[in-house]
Amino acid sequence: MSTRTVLITGAAGGVGSAAVRRLHDLGWEVFAGVRRASDAAALPGGVHPLTVDLVDEETVEAAAGEIAARTGGRLDALVNNAGVVVDGPVELVRLDEWRRQFDVNVLGQVAMTQAVLPMVRAARGRIVNIGAASARMSGPAFGPVAASKAALASVTEALRAELRPLGVRVCVIEPGLLATEIFEKAGTARTAAGWRGDADAQRLYAGVTAKVGEFGARSRPGPVEGVVRAIVRALEARRPSPRYLVGRDARTLAALAKLPGHTRDRIVLRAVGIDAATYGA
Ligand SMILES: NC(=O)c1ccc[n+]([C@@H]2O[C@H](COP(=O)([O-])OP(=O)(O)OC[C@H]3O[C@@H](n4cnc5c(N)ncnc54)[C@H](OP(=O)(O)O)[C@@H]3O)[C@@H](O)[C@H]2O)c1
Repeated sequence: MSTRTVLITGAAGGVGSAAVRRLHDLGWEVFAGVRRASDAAALPGGVHPLTVDLVDEETVEAAAGEIAARTGGRLDALVNNAGVVVDGPVELVRLDEWRRQFDVNVLGQVAMTQAVLPMVRAARGRIVNIGAASARMSGPAFGPVAASKAALASVTEALRAELRPLGVRVCVIEPGLLATEIFEKAGTARTAAGWRGDADAQRLYAGVTAKVGEFGARSRPGPVEGVVRAIVRALEARRPSPRYLVGRDARTLAALAKLPGHTRDRIVLRAVGIDAATYGA
């Protein structure tokens, strides 16, 4: 049997680099997308680095061209893992930050998928999108990232139906909170971007963002290994599931998502410790 080929984006750390190592160890020929060329040095020997910035179409097309040249135009799997978090109250997050959230987490995944899809079709391969459990249920100061992952889940569903008759399987993995650097990067970007709105609006939400931050600090992020296991299952199982929830918090969110909206709001606000007094406190 010929070696199976996979492209994993966002391979510079967290879930991506762990998935690259595992699939390489399992005998896959791995193409690893990194945003900065300097991050290629940390990849295991034998892995093919590709410099891809998902918001730069030229790099996306160039990466697809490199894969085609090396594989003869067949790719067994694409793992759309790269992503960013933009968080904060809907009223305060600047529109350019909202756009960055959707440019990377939604349109970037679509661009990468479009670029390699002829090769995935040729291989009757698989596409695995890394979503998030927040796609099932959003919450205070989580609007942008949760909305992007809900959009990605919806794109995944369309693609799944479109490609099934062609023998290509598509699924989404929805982890809960993970121990990676993604929220630190989000904090740095948030500080650099600043909030929109005047001082009164910013004061109004200061208590809310503080409570959400405290809730995050109390939470226990899970290891990336759970996601890596789900990626391997999604790629190797004879019948992959359409959706994989990873982590107890993810399963809790999915269960809460089935409750009526008002009930959900009450549960979430109580858990985070937000009430009317939090505003402008
Ligand atoms: N951590 C969590 O709690 C959590 C929960 C649910 C879902 N997820 C999802 O899991 C996936 C992996 O995230 P992670 O937690 O492993 O975080 P991470 O370590 O920050 O990994 C994200 C990767 O995406 C890359 N990336 C960001 N913007 C990019 C762009 N424009 N073009 C190409 N690559 C880009 C990053 O590269 P740079 O570092 O160079 O920017 C990084 O390698 C993401 O889709 C994330 O949304 C994470």
